Amino acid sequence: MFTTTNSFWNLPMDKQRAAVFLDRDGIINADTSILEHPDRICLTPEGIDALRNLGRRYLLFVFARPDFSGKRIAPREVAYINLALDKLLRNSGVDILEWCVCPRALKDQRGCIDSDPFFLKQTAEKYGFNLKRSFIISINPQDFPATEALGIFSLFLLSGPSVTHLGNLPDDRLVFHSLEHAASWIGKHPIPMVDMDRALTDGACSIKAGGLVAFPTETVYGLGADAFNHLAVARIFEVKKRPLHNPLIVHIADIAQLEQLVDEVSPVALRLINRYWPGPLSLVFRKKSAVPDIVTAGQPTVAVRMPAHPMASELIRRSKTPIAAPSANAFGRTSATSAQHVLDQLQNVCDVLIDGGACRIGVESTVVTVTGTKPILLRPGAIPIEDMETTADTSILRKYMLPMENNPESPGMMNTHYQTATPIHIVEDCLPFAGRTDIGFLLFGQTGDTFAGPTRNLSHTSDLKEAAVNLYLAMRELDALGLKAIVSKLLPETGIGYAINDRLRKASFKPDGFDSQKD
Ligand code: TXA
Ligand code: MG
Repeated sequence: MFTTTNSFWNLPMDKQRAAVFLDRDGIINADTSILEHPDRICLTPEGIDALRNLGRRYLLFVFARPDFSGKRIAPREVAYINLALDKLLRNSGVDILEWCVCPRALKDQRGCIDSDPFFLKQTAEKYGFNLKRSFIISINPQDFPATEALGIFSLFLLSGPSVTHLGNLPDDRLVFHSLEHAASWIGKHPIPMVDMDRALTDGACSIKAGGLVAFPTETVYGLGADAFNHLAVARIFEVKKRPLHNPLIVHIADIAQLEQLVDEVSPVALRLINRYWPGPLSLVFRKKSAVPDIVTAGQPTVAVRMPAHPMASELIRRSKTPIAAPSANAFGRTSATSAQHVLDQLQNVCDVLIDGGACRIGVESTVVTVTGTKPILLRPGAIPIEDMETTADTSILRKYMLPMENNPESPGMMNTHYQTATPIHIVEDCLPFAGRTDIGFLLFGQTGDTFAGPTRNLSHTSDLKEAAVNLYLAMRELDALGLKAIVSKLLPETGIGYAINDRLRKASFKPDGFDSQKD
C-alpha cells in the first residue's frame, strides 16, 4: 500500500476525532469505471459540495483499488491521477488527508480494504481518531464486513452498476442515491445506531398517539398511521389530498398481525406469502369487520403487505399495531424514494420522518388480489409475474392494463398517476427531439447520441433494476429544471420493466391523448 499524505496539523481540533473513508471510483469520481487516466476525472459540483460539508466535521480519506494485474496501469500512474484529483479538490476547498491505494492485484493483499483493512487501523493510530465514530462510503459491499468489525459505520452508494451488488448487501445496511444524500444523512446521524434508534422510538410514539410518520420501505417511502385509528387514517387522506375512494395498504411486521386484519388465507395466498413476505408484494384479502372502512375505502377487502425494510418492520413492531400507509407523496405525483423527496412534497405534514436512505427497489409493490379463485394482478412491481405464477401454481390474471372503468377490483388505480409538473411524453424514438434544449430525456442503456437538452440515464448498462432505483429520482430532477417536456421511450417489457413502463404510461397519460409533434 502507498499513500499520498496532506497536512493533518492544520486541522481544527474538533475534526481530529472521526473520519470518513470514501471509495474513489464511483464516489469521488462520478464515473464508476476504474479511473485509469486523468482525462476521465469527473467531479460534480454536488459531489464537491458534499465533500466540503463532510470535511467540515470529519477527516477525509480516499481509497482506490486499481487493477495492476493487466499492466494497464502502473502504481506511479495511479499516484499521478490521485495527485491531479487532490489538486482539483483542494482548489475547491476539499482537503483529503490521505489517498490510499489497495493494490489488490499484487501478491501481498494486506492493503486491500475488502480483505484486511489494516490501513484504516494505521491511519486511526497515526491521526488519533476514533474508528467507532467513523464512516465508510463505498460502492462495494465486500468492504463492509472488515470495516464494520472495526466499528466503522458503512453506507452503500447506488452508483451506476453498483446496484448489482445489492444482492450481497444485508437488508439492514443503508443505501443512498448519491454522495450528497449520504453526506447529509451523516450530518443528521453522527452517532448512527443511537440516532436511528431514537427516530424509531419517536416514530412509534407518534403512531400510538395518532400521528403520521413517514418511513422507508424497500419499495418507496410510506406515510403511515395506526391502521385502527380512524382519525389518524383520515388525516392521511387529508394531507395527501387523496380521494377517499382510493384504499390504503396495511403494513404488518409478522404473520400474527395478519390475523387482526383478515379471516381467511387461501392456499394460493399462503404460497405467495411463504415465498415473497417480507417483501414487495401486497395481497388483497377479504377484510375483518374490525378494519376501519376509511382504510379500505368502503371495500370489503384489505390490501396487506409485510415490508422487508428493517426500519419499517421495527417501526411497526414498536408501534404494536399494523400501519396503514400510502406512498409518501402528494396525490398523483411521483412516489418518494428518499427522505428528501418526502420533505420536498410533504413538508410539515408528517409528525416524524424516519430517514433510512434510498429505497432499494424504487417502484411500488406488486398488488395481487387473492379473494377469488384466480389471483389478479392489479399493479405490477418488482416481482416477475411468471415467477409469481410458478409460485402460486396457477395463472394470474393481468388486470392492471385495463382502463379504470373496466377494472372494479382496483379502486384508486388511476390512469393518471406518478405525475411530474412537467409533462412526460412516451415516444418511439428520442432522436427527433435531440436538438431541443427545452426538452429533458429519460434514457436507458448506452446511447452514444448527443442531446442538447438535459438527460438522465436510468441505466447505462441497460439494467432494469438499476432503472427502477433511479426512475423517480430522475423524473424529479428533470422536473425541477423547468423544461417544456420530458420524453422517454418505453423500457423492455420484462421483469421489473413491466412496472417501470406502467409508471411511465401513467405519468404520461393525458385524457385527450398526446401528439408528440405538438408538445
Ligand atoms: O410499495 C408500496 O406498495 C408502497 C409502500 C409505502 O408500501 N405503498 C403504496 O401505497 O404504493 P399507495 O397507496 O400509493 O398504493 C396502493 C395501491 C393503490 O393503487 C390502491 O388502489 C391499491 O393499492 N389498493 C389498496 N387497497 C386495495 C384494495 N382493498 N383493493 C384493491 N386495491 C387496493
Ligand atoms: Mg402512491
